[in-house]
Amino acid sequence: MTDTFTIAIDGPAAAGKGTISKAIAAQFGFAHLDTGLLYRAVGARVLAGVEPIEAAITLQAEDLDRDDLRTAEVAQAASKVAVIAEVRAALVDFQRAFARRAGGAVLDGRDIGTVICPNAEVKLYVTASAEVRAKRRFLELTGKGEVTSLETVLADVMARDDRDMNRAEAPMKPAADALTIDTSELSIEQALQVALKEISAQRMP
Ligand code: CDP
Ligand code: CDP
Repeated sequence: MTDTFTIAIDGPAAAGKGTISKAIAAQFGFAHLDTGLLYRAVGARVLAGVEPIEAAITLQAEDLDRDDLRTAEVAQAASKVAVIAEVRAALVDFQRAFARRAGGAVLDGRDIGTVICPNAEVKLYVTASAEVRAKRRFLELTGKGEVTSLETVLADVMARDDRDMNRAEAPMKPAADALTIDTSELSIEQALQVALKEISAQRMP
């Protein structure tokens, strides 16, 4: 028998989705897909001059390995291409196939619980205040040598939140049956414990 088990983790930038997803995947031996990387890879190709829909349709696995995908510039480009319905449509099949892979999968993004995997066994919406998230992202970016200010990072995070929440296609929002975890005042370990408790509540005996 082929065992599938899908954990959908959505939420805004720097809420802790990726950190929690990786820890859960490691704990259960599940595969993990950071779906933001797909949009970042499309955004990076658009910055290099490719037309957005073309960039999404012709996206290759190796595009996800580029080491410039984590910059603030690519993040903004990602959220701009992410409003285009045809760009999103081109990325659906890959994400759904990943979610159904044998052995279980964790996907994190903005629309996993609502659009990509509405039947996921576990849905989490991980969030935190914009100020806390901006501080976290600022520390990450400056740690990697990117020159920026906390004010700039906060403005970028808020612009992206606004674009992601208010787009017509697959807007960022918690699924009706998602558990929301606000990590503003939680350590990574504390947030992970809340997530693990929810997973064990939903897992088949
Ligand atoms: O994937 P997402 O953009 O939601 O966030 P992340 O990459 O998991 O986390 C962003 C940063 O916040 C990382 O440096 C985490 O270590 C940090 N973080 C934290 O300090 N406390 C938390 N409860 C969660 C994440
Ligand atoms: O790491 P961070 O949370 O800052 O961003 P990300 O997850 O890499 O996503 C970058 C951008 O891609 C987001 O701001 C969204 O506009 C878009 N995205 C999306 O629309 N749907 C997803 N499932 C994942 C990302």
